[in-house]
Amino acid sequence: MRIRATEPSDHASILEMVREAFTDGSHDGHEEVEVVLETWARDAVAEGLDLVADDDGVVGHIMAGRGLLAGRDAIAVAPLSVSPSRQGQGIGTALTNELLVRAEAAGWPLVLLLGDPGYYGRFDFEPAGALGIVYPPVGAGSPHFQVRRLQGFEASAWRGAFNYCWELS
Ligand SMILES: CC(C)(COP(=O)(O)OP(=O)(O)OC[C@H]1O[C@@H](n2cnc3c(N)ncnc32)[C@H](O)[C@@H]1OP(=O)(O)O)[C@@H](O)C(=O)NCCC(=O)NCCS
Repeated sequence: MRIRATEPSDHASILEMVREAFTDGSHDGHEEVEVVLETWARDAVAEGLDLVADDDGVVGHIMAGRGLLAGRDAIAVAPLSVSPSRQGQGIGTALTNELLVRAEAAGWPLVLLLGDPGYYGRFDFEPAGALGIVYPPVGAGSPHFQVRRLQGFEASAWRGAFNYCWELS
């Protein structure tokens, strides 16, 4: 298994894998597929931060899209997915760690996401609301909207409301 940049020829496999990963008894993965499609369509992928795990085919995907945090460019992971048959084998961990390394190298001071704190805490994501970074649909008290501070992060400079790319006109 290797992690590499997504290529256009991966798109169909990624969409199918995202749909499968987010399908359960109450969801059909449609919303997450739309997030990926919208981010690609708006050309809002943060440069170099659209990655696949490849093991003779796509078995995982992570992407960070550009949004606005109080009017400044900021990035958020949406979504992270691993093929159901390959979950629990460290692929999500490898993708997340690689994205964080690349985001920091690219100079981003923070990475945001909406997700399970039980999973993302291991990567030093923390509740964003405590730092004054808010995703309005979930509010400042939500533990699910999280931030990972990277080199260069200054709490006083990065505060306010975040909007994903598909929420901007
Ligand atoms: C969540 C997901 C990306 C994790 O990827 P993965 O490759 O299966 O995870 P890893 O093998 O790297 O890590 C496994 C660990 O994560 C834990 N874990 C997996 N999903 C979790 C969740 N939703 N909440 C808390 N812990 C979780 C496992 O219990 C395991 O813990 P351990 O290391 O203490 O045994 C993957 O399971 C997935 O695609 N799930 C469906 C889509 C989804 O929920 N995406 C995340 C959106 S926020």
